[in-house]
Amino acid sequence: MARHTIEDLKKCIQKFPRERLIHSPTPLRKLENLTQKLGGPDIFIKRDDMTGLAFGGNKSRKLEFIIADVLKKKADTIITWASVQSNWCLQTAAVANKYGIKPILILFKTYDIPEEFDGNLLLDFILDADIRFGEGEAGRVVQVDQAKEMLKEIAEEIRKEGHRPYIVPIGGSMKGEDMELPLGAVGYVDAIIEIKQQFEKIGENIDYIIHATGSGGTQAGMVVGAKAVTENTKVLGVSVSEKKDVFSKDVLTICRDTVGALELKLEIDKDDVMVFDDYIQDGYGVVNKEVSEAVRLMAHTEGIFLDPVYTGKAMVALVDLIKKGHFNSDDKVVFIHTGGTPALFPNKHLISKFLT
Ligand SMILES: Cc1ncc(COP(=O)(O)O)c(C=O)c1O
Repeated sequence: MARHTIEDLKKCIQKFPRERLIHSPTPLRKLENLTQKLGGPDIFIKRDDMTGLAFGGNKSRKLEFIIADVLKKKADTIITWASVQSNWCLQTAAVANKYGIKPILILFKTYDIPEEFDGNLLLDFILDADIRFGEGEAGRVVQVDQAKEMLKEIAEEIRKEGHRPYIVPIGGSMKGEDMELPLGAVGYVDAIIEIKQQFEKIGENIDYIIHATGSGGTQAGMVVGAKAVTENTKVLGVSVSEKKDVFSKDVLTICRDTVGALELKLEIDKDDVMVFDDYIQDGYGVVNKEVSEAVRLMAHTEGIFLDPVYTGKAMVALVDLIKKGHFNSDDKVVFIHTGGTPALFPNKHLISKFLT
């Protein structure tokens, strides 16, 4: 049973400063061909790849709240980190530029991809982001400890130059550094209101939401939003990097921090956080045949492109869970397209090898 009304939840979200960045609501459509091909359940897509900023993606929803905090704190430089082809870093750099704030990106090499100007790295370059490279752990999303030393040094350097840095944690998910609240997750609580209202218009209830999960904020926001205003919608996070045991705890922490920040009357239990770690395959960012085929499946059936690092893996999971009978044939399942398509291009050699 829903614990809050949509109006209640909207009021809680409205307490946060926000800059409007995205075209919303993003489209929600039934994927008729894919549903038919996979033999049910009813699959819908939420096009968060069409948020409108820097090729779209989940990060621009988060940044509506994060950039408002940066402006409030009168910072003139944003520093963040992730991997070389990071969608998060690209979106952050784009938003920073829009507000006349200097973006500094620490990009760690976490999988075997050339450091040439292609995909997101090309876009970072066009944006004139200040890029610093680091050596990451192969096949894993960059952990905060790896970035700590460089962050400290760069923030110091910026202060010495008379500027005001704002450090945002990777993915804008976990609170920390200069982001004192899980502002990114608040963006995805808001996304749940959007999806719920779109479903109300078509007179349906959402049984499942499935999406790629990396730093946890998208999932945490949706878990909180779903528990607040839906009738038992289950949010399934498909991990692209971390094992379920450790990662679920991080998501739960972000969920609880989000509940606290929004002052909701809600308990999030560990069972509310559903993470699948069976689809990490060869590690974070490593493109293989299965992922390439999932990208092609969506392109073939619906003319929609997924990315090979996040949404492609979420599609591998969806197909497999359908095969394993995880859903009833009349369930309504929403696949969130969280963006990331620029990463298709630097992975061109692998994708074309696996699809030939
Ligand atoms: C395309 C895409 N999908 C999903 C995610 C996962 O989102 P989160 O970091 O909020 O878990 C990311 C994060 O980088 C992403 O870039």
